[in-house]
Amino acid sequence: MEIINTIAALKLLLEPIKQAHQKIAIVPTMGALHKGHVSLIAAAKQLADLVVCSVFVNPTQFTDPKDLEKYPRPLAHDIKMLEEAGCNVVFMPSVREMYPQPENWHIDLGAVEFLLEGEFRKGHYQGVTQIVKKLFDAVNPDLAFFGQKDFQQVLMIKKMVDHFQLPVKVVSCPIIREIDGLAMSSRNINLTAQDRQNALVLSKALEYVKSHFKEKNIESLLENATAMLKGTAGVELDYFTIANGETLLPEYDKNAGNLVALVAAKVGETRLIDNMLLD
Ligand code: PAF
Repeated sequence: MEIINTIAALKLLLEPIKQAHQKIAIVPTMGALHKGHVSLIAAAKQLADLVVCSVFVNPTQFTDPKDLEKYPRPLAHDIKMLEEAGCNVVFMPSVREMYPQPENWHIDLGAVEFLLEGEFRKGHYQGVTQIVKKLFDAVNPDLAFFGQKDFQQVLMIKKMVDHFQLPVKVVSCPIIREIDGLAMSSRNINLTAQDRQNALVLSKALEYVKSHFKEKNIESLLENATAMLKGTAGVELDYFTIANGETLLPEYDKNAGNLVALVAAKVGETRLIDNMLLD
């Protein structure tokens, strides 16, 4: 496994692979890797000849400086996991490498940008699309793999790819859960034992909605799931919604199709998100 720190060295390494018409996949990450990331690498290995993983905690997507500061960075653990997962190239640039000078980035991501996560983390998806575009420019990948856990992020990245008409296929991979249902997330490291227990209500509320979807109407599913979340000590609910999977607007017609339940809550000091496809 090659570890590369500069865009120039990365381009030099990948150029002959591109010339040989081999397929390159990128798995962008912010490190603190877990089995969810490993599943993205495994999916990428199925479809590409070479897998590049980036590990970069991108400052422009953080809306709270404290959140950026406490974002976990277990470097040695990450390198070991990437090696074991069969990643071919790791790209670990510095902030200076990715942002050599101040930049004004803004693209039209449509109305979805301002909903849900966009409402609680203003400007977040501008930062995400800014760095993903830079990573795509550096790697020139054929395929890019992202986790469905960041459901809205996948929509925003697809929008950015359309905006620039990039020849990259964006692949969304299923959420990987702990045995008790908790969605795997780099942020789970920050949960105390009590938070970890309380956090289970997120996946339980989603499971409740999925398993009662046939017999109840959307209003009562929302009411009961919200009550579960609000009734759990140490959990501060930001939103629980059943929405259209493209527009993320609330949907009350069970037969509308393409429905997804999405939740975000602060558990102790850690903000978590999760979602479940409903049909
Ligand atoms: O999902 C993430 O880890 C990040 O938002 C991403 C896509 C690597 C961009 O920094």
